[in-house]
Amino acid sequence: MNHAEEIWKTLVRATVDKKHPWRVAGFGTAGANGPQVRSVILRAVNAVEHQLVFYTDARSQKMADIAHDPRVALLFWNAGNNTQLRVCGKASCESSELIVNDFWDQIPDYARRDYATLSAPGHVLGSGGLLHDFETARRNFVVLNVGVHSMELLVLKREGHVRMGFEKRQGGPWQETGLVP
Ligand SMILES: Cc1cc2nc3c(=O)[nH]c(=O)nc-3n(C[C@H](O)[C@H](O)[C@H](O)COP(=O)(O)O)c2cc1C
Repeated sequence: MNHAEEIWKTLVRATVDKKHPWRVAGFGTAGANGPQVRSVILRAVNAVEHQLVFYTDARSQKMADIAHDPRVALLFWNAGNNTQLRVCGKASCESSELIVNDFWDQIPDYARRDYATLSAPGHVLGSGGLLHDFETARRNFVVLNVGVHSMELLVLKREGHVRMGFEKRQGGPWQETGLVP
């Protein structure tokens, strides 16, 4: 198995193993007011199409950022094996209602609450506290696909760090380049 295939296999594992460090990624956007980064959970991976899947709220700042510029950067860090993965890609909303419903059906009730706030995420909390409307939660739920076009791996080692770049080639294997760490 080559290095790119190993990375994709690890990303798939991170969606299955809830304790895997790559399950939580830093999700960077370039919004109208500059860059932003936040933690998100890697929900699914399409290792054939090279897509990463995330859930979010349609009303969140990151959605406005993506509408401004769909290019995103992701950061994964595994302190267990000193491995950093940086990913660049293009984010888009899943347009198939069937697929979105399929993901929604897998979300337990307690987690659906995240999408049910009456006010948008990030808005100032009113004096009445946090109010929910479970009827609208599904409408606020968005499945984000990130089509990956480049990746970079850095493995920190006492005997010498290893850094590799990967570029997606249409229809072919990933182009791998060794880089000076
Ligand atoms: C461990 C962890 C996991 C998170 N997972 C998600 C997630 O999967 N989707 C999401 O939209 N926000 C997630 N969040 C919340 C985001 O970090 C962020 O606070 C929220 O999405 C609002 O970001 P925005 O205003 O930049 O859009 C998570 C936060 C933490 C700490």
